Amino acid sequence: MKHFISVDSLSKEEIFRLLHQAQKLQKNPERMKEKFFVSNLFFEPSTRTKMSFIIAQKKLGLDIVEFHPDSSSLLKGETLYDTAKTLEAIGVQLLVIRHQADNWFSDLQQLNIPVINAGAGKAEHPTQCMSDLLTIYQEFGSFQGLNIVIAGDIKHSRVAHSNAKALTRLGAQVYFSAAPEFRAEELDIPYVSMDEAVEIADVLMLLRVQHERHMNKMETSNYLNRFGLTKEREKKMKEKAIIMHPAPVNRGVEIDSDLVECGRSRIFKQMENGVGIRMAIMLTILEEWGKKDENINYERK
Ligand code: CP
Repeated sequence: MKHFISVDSLSKEEIFRLLHQAQKLQKNPERMKEKFFVSNLFFEPSTRTKMSFIIAQKKLGLDIVEFHPDSSSLLKGETLYDTAKTLEAIGVQLLVIRHQADNWFSDLQQLNIPVINAGAGKAEHPTQCMSDLLTIYQEFGSFQGLNIVIAGDIKHSRVAHSNAKALTRLGAQVYFSAAPEFRAEELDIPYVSMDEAVEIADVLMLLRVQHERHMNKMETSNYLNRFGLTKEREKKMKEKAIIMHPAPVNRGVEIDSDLVECGRSRIFKQMENGVGIRMAIMLTILEEWGKKDENINYERK
């Protein structure tokens, strides 16, 4: 694994290896023996992903090279590729990137250093997907036969896209539940109403209404009752069913505020797991990349 851009590129064995490694690292954090310089390039806001990458990097003993788009030469018109190539040239050995474009990675194919996708527009959020897989795996020990309902603003959600594909591949039965304007018909996933969702779900994964990606701000005063998880609906969930949400949460919109920390909520567990899984991903990538002789240039001119 050189880059980590989509869970699609991992075999099932690689997914399970990372889940197991993350659990080991959560118990016994491992510092890397070699020194690596890493940089986090976030062109969209982030709390969880960016901070958990930083914690994971510090636990692994990596050297973080600060990068702030607002004070970089991007403001002079430098492209993402030239920015990344510059960081590579001056010695950064791993880039973690979040960008608003769905396919920003296609511009970076010629980089020699590994790149991790920390969020690509509406398309992919593979490290969130891996945190979610870890949370479900810890809870049920398998994905086979689970009913997983992903509910909310599917159309604008990179988490929905990454998770639907990965969970289906791992043997879960995935359903979507969404307001008509939030459906993503290009994905071949059956839709259920929220009333049906609470009856069938082993995992109910709620998604934020992504106002910042909408052309017009949506009126949400009646959203909770029509499409969200109310306290009345939560009472109809299966005894062992869990609630997930990648967060940030719009309390009182897609979920009643009182349910965010209820007994079946794993929302903060997902965040905790984000550190372990990001450690596992970076450790795997850097160990593989660091072993390759061609990455060390001994030649003197
Ligand atoms: N879940 C997630 O990506 O959160 P942040 O946008 O805060 O990183």
